[in-house]
Amino acid sequence: MAQNPEDLAPLWRIPWTTEHGEARARELFHHTFGAAPTTFQSAPGRVTLIGDHTDYAGGLCLTTVLDHQTFVAARARDDARVRVVSAQGGLVEGPDHVWEGDLTALTHANGLGWARHVVGVLWALMERGFASRGMDIAIDSCVPIGAGLGSSASLQCAVALAVNDCWELLLDSPEGRSELAEAAIDAETRFVQVPTGGLDHYSIMQCERGQAVLLDFATRPPVLTQLPLYFPEYGLCLLVIDTSERRDLRDAHYAKRRASCEAAARQLGAPSLRDVFESPQWLRRVNQLRDPVVRARARHVVTELHRVRLITDELAGTGPAHERFVNAGKAMYRSHASLDVDFKVSTDALNLAVDSAFRVGALGARLVGAGFGGSAIALVRRTQVETTARLINAAFADRTLARPAFLTV
Ligand code: GLA
Repeated sequence: MAQNPEDLAPLWRIPWTTEHGEARARELFHHTFGAAPTTFQSAPGRVTLIGDHTDYAGGLCLTTVLDHQTFVAARARDDARVRVVSAQGGLVEGPDHVWEGDLTALTHANGLGWARHVVGVLWALMERGFASRGMDIAIDSCVPIGAGLGSSASLQCAVALAVNDCWELLLDSPEGRSELAEAAIDAETRFVQVPTGGLDHYSIMQCERGQAVLLDFATRPPVLTQLPLYFPEYGLCLLVIDTSERRDLRDAHYAKRRASCEAAARQLGAPSLRDVFESPQWLRRVNQLRDPVVRARARHVVTELHRVRLITDELAGTGPAHERFVNAGKAMYRSHASLDVDFKVSTDALNLAVDSAFRVGALGARLVGAGFGGSAIALVRRTQVETTARLINAAFADRTLARPAFLTV
């Protein structure tokens, strides 16, 4: 069968402008609730540059945010009703889904479908003792869903910001945003029941677009260091390859990885793998773990922590730029190998994305986020973005894998 030339062209996910996103959320709100919203909030998706699967081990992560955002239009009510509509509801649950319930009945996520992410945030803020009010909430998003780009955290953070407005919580300062991030994390871990580590929510709440943030989870809240993104001024950018393979962190794999890391720390007599990493002969200690699976998982975490330090230093360094970016890129490839071989969270499609990026000369590439599907990133010259995407696209077509989509940061 002749191939349609359109199928060979890379599919680009273009971000909406803030005005466009707000207009869409306003329209959905008006169409559903027959009134005008009083607040608009948005929150981006996130990309991990390096440091995946370390946050829950007291680790370090270097992250940035996408231009793609979740948009929320909302309005406080005079009663205790909550109504939620999402333009993406159909993607998860079936068409035209409006969730409706009472604030007093928000006790568990069973049967809530996608609305659990929204309701969970209201629940978490009530748990923290904030005085609540009913709300109408409309959501629209251009963050690819389930693509390893923090779409659920982006939704939870945008909702937390809208609740902040509607309930007049005055949590607009950096400390206030950390409190909202913690509430959104509670929503995910205690309400939705995914034992996530916090890197998504803190990146989204604390990283400006076009910047990076180094998150240090040795303490809670983590210590945040705002950094430049470095790439644009050297003509480089991140190409995000969304493999179109979808995953759901509610399955047991993510929790199992976390449990293995906790077991490793316990067996080494340390509070966390971060403490092991900060001790002398950290790699030797980890390599002495008896259980091969626990050993491999722990090895990923400690070597990834080493790579976070290395990449952060290279990016901020003063040596020749080409050397620094080549070194950072190499560490990205090593990170991918570690996530594939030791942590076992890669897939054929993610490996193909990374291998193809290497073959066409990307400085570095790795899967991002939890893995088990989702996206990879490649560090490329801005002038090579189109060609790289085209060649990766062709490699996926050759292997008859689902068509990937691309975005840039
Ligand atoms: C998911 C989790 C995060 C983090 C990443 C992997 O995105 O939500 O807390 O563990 O996976 O780095």
